[in-house]
Amino acid sequence: TIGMVDFDTPLPVPPIAESTVAADGTRVFSLEAQAGTTEFAPGVPSETWGFDGAYLGPTIVAERGERIRVDVANALDEPTTVHWHGMHLPAEMDGGPHQMVDPGETWSPEWEVDQQAATLWYHPHPHGETEQHVARGLAGMFLVRDDVEAALPLPREYGVDDLPVIVQDAAFTDDGRLESAPRGFAGRMGDELVVNGARAPYAEVEAEVVRLRLLNASTARTYAFGWEDGRAVDVIATDGGLLEASVALDRVVLSPGERAEVLVRMTPGEELRLQSVMTPEAAGLKPPIAAMNGATDAFDVLELRAAEALDPAPDLPERLRELPEVAEDAVATTRTFRLDGFEINGGTMRMDHVDETVTLDTTERWIVENAGEMPHSFHVHDVQFRIGAIDAAPPPAELAGWKDTILVRPGSRYELILRFEDFADPATPYMYHCHLLQHEDQGMMGQFVVVEPGQ
Ligand code: C2O
Ligand code: CU
Repeated sequence: TIGMVDFDTPLPVPPIAESTVAADGTRVFSLEAQAGTTEFAPGVPSETWGFDGAYLGPTIVAERGERIRVDVANALDEPTTVHWHGMHLPAEMDGGPHQMVDPGETWSPEWEVDQQAATLWYHPHPHGETEQHVARGLAGMFLVRDDVEAALPLPREYGVDDLPVIVQDAAFTDDGRLESAPRGFAGRMGDELVVNGARAPYAEVEAEVVRLRLLNASTARTYAFGWEDGRAVDVIATDGGLLEASVALDRVVLSPGERAEVLVRMTPGEELRLQSVMTPEAAGLKPPIAAMNGATDAFDVLELRAAEALDPAPDLPERLRELPEVAEDAVATTRTFRLDGFEINGGTMRMDHVDETVTLDTTERWIVENAGEMPHSFHVHDVQFRIGAIDAAPPPAELAGWKDTILVRPGSRYELILRFEDFADPATPYMYHCHLLQHEDQGMMGQFVVVEPGQ
């Protein structure tokens, strides 16, 4: 599928969500989940869902330290939720399956943004229905900004040299109508990509250095993003924000839910394609299983077209930001999560059952083992974590920063170090789960609560 497509649609850039400031200083956003139609092919409408529009949603931008509220209205004819993926916030505001918004209702979570600059995102989380809701188009980006990032000479003009790149796979009828992708071993896998809601888009750029915020918002597919000419992919940030220094990779692998920020330097007039070339090795899979998981598929993703004159960009500093040491020494509790089939530790999600109780102000080690043959994507709500080790070795540089979701390869063992600092609430659980959304919907999810010491 590489080289087969003409890139003839301009890349849509989701608008920045508008906000107002309430009397007490809270910045107020609103989102409405709604049904609509989208033309993935000219003149051929498909039924889709979106926030404040027919497909995807606006990009929310907030500063660290701001208090925000989002009024989430549900104009669909079925219940949904909105989860703030990667956000550190009270469990009641998290938008998981316990915070359903009924049709016609509005839910108004409010919290203080207190984490470093990062590319986060939001999407529904209704138990058993998440795959459907996300695949129909309910997803958007949430950018956190802070002073450390603002002080760096990084591209940060949204839509100009700082581009959101929301990647999903999809299936279309011959005349271009969106259809439900065929259901496979890992989930639904479409044979085409949509980027920010468009098939085969191009972006015209006028800056020498462009920052792409890559989000894998697919329900099942893992990508290995790289440049068609083989130049290095310069990764500057992962799920939870900037790395200490940029890392040059052949390809950056993102499983569902994961993000990476990459920089690319263009020359005047240049055309450059971003591609995804998955391999069994990248997925950690044996060939027959790799094919079933789309791990032998290649795609053109996006074409960048540089103007004849480009705004010059400064060189990047060698250090981007200081990261604290991984707090292995502080670990008070170790838990193991064994993934096998659609089960975690031999069980599936029960809405009325708390699986793990975590004490406030402690550091924990979560060992995530994949005992099965399928890859999974393990996501933890509430905190950004660090990877202590993968199969007893230190993580590669691109996985050494803050993460909230990781690809868990079959036969591998990942040690996560997590610190639970705020928001004790024995009555409201957070989730941990596989972010392959069919797996999540099948119950590959568990719940934890954070409690005060002694509770
Ligand atoms: Cu991106 Cu529990 O979700
Ligand atoms: Cu899974």
